[in-house]
Amino acid sequence: MLTEVTTTSLINNNINGNGKLLLKRDVDALRSEIKNLAKEKNAVILAHIYQRLEVQDIADQVGDSLALSRFAANTNADIIVFCGVHFMAETAKLLNPKKTVLLPDLQSGCPMADMISVDDLRAFRAEHPGAPVVCYVNSSASVKAESDACCTSTNAVQVVKAFKEDEIIFVPDKGLAVWVQEQVPDKKIHIYDGFCPTHYQITPKDVFVMREKYPDAVVVAHPECDPEVWRLADFVGSTSQIYKFVTDYHKQQFIILSEQGLVARMQRDMQHKTIVTTFPLPLCPNMKYHKLETVLSGLKENKNKIEINSDIFESASQSIIRMFEITESNKTGNKNFWEGPKRQ
Ligand code: 13P
Ligand code: SF4
Repeated sequence: MLTEVTTTSLINNNINGNGKLLLKRDVDALRSEIKNLAKEKNAVILAHIYQRLEVQDIADQVGDSLALSRFAANTNADIIVFCGVHFMAETAKLLNPKKTVLLPDLQSGCPMADMISVDDLRAFRAEHPGAPVVCYVNSSASVKAESDACCTSTNAVQVVKAFKEDEIIFVPDKGLAVWVQEQVPDKKIHIYDGFCPTHYQITPKDVFVMREKYPDAVVVAHPECDPEVWRLADFVGSTSQIYKFVTDYHKQQFIILSEQGLVARMQRDMQHKTIVTTFPLPLCPNMKYHKLETVLSGLKENKNKIEINSDIFESASQSIIRMFEITESNKTGNKNFWEGPKRQ
């Protein structure tokens, strides 16, 4: 079994645009060029925690979807370089209409977000008239524009509970939707058939194998996993909730049922703990497109600017603002807000 060794080494590789391994001196040179240019252009670099570690290391803010959206909403920078997937960069643009938002590699999409189009959503809504639509942030701006509120995995339960209606349409993630349904049993959630191919790669058998190998380990799952998988976990939570839980919990061994970038980051940040995942590694290839070289070229040339159709801009941003209104009005939730892992 290769699990815990390969997790860190795979993500730690500094690969250039041609797939070649970069030497430390090349990495250091790229890093300082990016940092200097970002300062000169008043740019801020945001990185999702599933990004390669070397990309996380040049970011001004690392975090999950919610932490990065909040950071994007409050930045004074002129340019936001978003090292995450396309819908995250769109969210940053929706919150900053006047700013330039760059996605270093445009291939970085999210297959789950692509599983629902506006037509799909309209057809699904027609089956459940009167039910408001809550869309997971992992969705396109046009789907957000057709939704009543957006949510992330951190606040999905809180957002659904905020609606007075007894029936809610939840799109596109069925893993998270089933999780929300269990936390909010007094409402009927109409669940769309979308899923995350990375988290769904983990099977119940993979979990049994790891439990046998680490019988004392605490099993922790992201709700994007298949419900048959997260039901086997001792703790279910979003990226930030997983990071906090593993940081604070007194046990030493953890089996993480989530993406490998998060696992690698926790392995580095919490070296006194044993943190492993399943095998084959649950890796989101879409998150790994951004590299130091593409960040640099994107910033140099203001390449891959995110633009959103003006017809949907206002309604799409409203669905995100609605999420903030719901979550920010809850002072307790706000106090516990995760700002991302500490800077190295
Ligand atoms: P969070 O960052 O909200 O936990 O979502 C995980 C994910 O799959 C991002 O695409
Ligand atoms: Fe999309 Fe899943 Fe990758 Fe997140 S991990 S970006 S949901 S495919």
